Order: sequence, then structure tokens, then C-alpha cells
Amino acid sequence: MTAQSERTLVIVKPDGYRRGLTGEVLRRIEAKGYVLAELKVATPDRERLAKHYAEHEGKPFYQPLLEFMSSGPATFAVVEGHRCIEGFRALAGATDPTAALPGTIRGDLGRDWGEKVQANIVHGSDSPESAEREIGIWFA
Ligand code: TYD
Ligand code: MG
Repeated sequence: MTAQSERTLVIVKPDGYRRGLTGEVLRRIEAKGYVLAELKVATPDRERLAKHYAEHEGKPFYQPLLEFMSSGPATFAVVEGHRCIEGFRALAGATDPTAALPGTIRGDLGRDWGEKVQANIVHGSDSPESAEREIGIWFA
């Protein structure tokens, strides 16, 4: 990693994995010019999910979120590049896949399935502090 570069944690969530969208998400990351520094497939366990989503504990979507995220395999990637945290969030699009703009991962590939939780294909860290914390949880 160069001095001015940064890292972010990307997860292709279980809905994206089940739908065979892992390659498409990784393709968009590489096409943007970011680098895949680490990559693995694993079913997220509830203990690490609780740490990962600690900021959302108590919200109405928290339990459904943990249920959904532990429902099957996901792909975890450490992505590197200058301003990649902001850059990947822009690639991902808005949290609600129905409202996410076309051209984004969530806008092009996601939709509302009528579930309690927004199945929105990808996670991306929202700050350098979150990124290092989340990478520490999943790539310890
Ligand atoms: P959040 O961190 O707010 O969104 P983002 O993934 O864009 O950083 O929320 C974490 C996840 O929780 C989100 O990806 C989907 C789910 N969620 C819901 O199901 N309903 C909601 O109203 C919100 C805000 C999030
Ligand atoms: Mg978030």
C-alpha cells in the first residue's frame, strides 16, 4: 500500500453470492482501478456480525440484518486504492436498492424483495476508522 493509499472492507453479501453476482461486483471494483489485496468466501458468524454492525444494535432492522447476513456464504475483500472508501461507496450506491441510482451496483442489480431487511448486495466501510476496525474483525 502506498503512502497516500487507503483500504476498505467490501462484502458481497449472501444475496449477492446466491445470485452469482460476486464476479460482477469484483469486476466493477477492478474496472474502477482498485486493487484486490485480500479475498475469501465464508459464511459470516453471528459473533463477528454483532461486532461489525454494533452501531445498529437496537434498530428495527438489526435482528433481521444478522439473520440475513448469516444465511449463507459471502465474499470478503480488502480493497486498496487512493480514496477507495468514498469511491466504493459511490460504486455501491444508496442503501435502499430501489432508490439507488442506475449505474451503481445496488441500483443496477438490486431491488426490494418485500423483506424486513434491505438485501442490497454489498457492504462497504464508511470511514478509515470503520475500515480498519472491520478488516480487523474479518481478516484477523
Ligand atoms: P447502513 O450502515 O445504514 O447502510 P450501508 O450498508 O449503506 O452503510 O445499514 C447497514 C445495513 O442495514 C444496510 O446495508 C441494510 C440494512 N438496513 C435496512 O435493512 N434497513 C434500513 O432502514 C437501514 C438504514 C439499513
Ligand atoms: Mg454502513
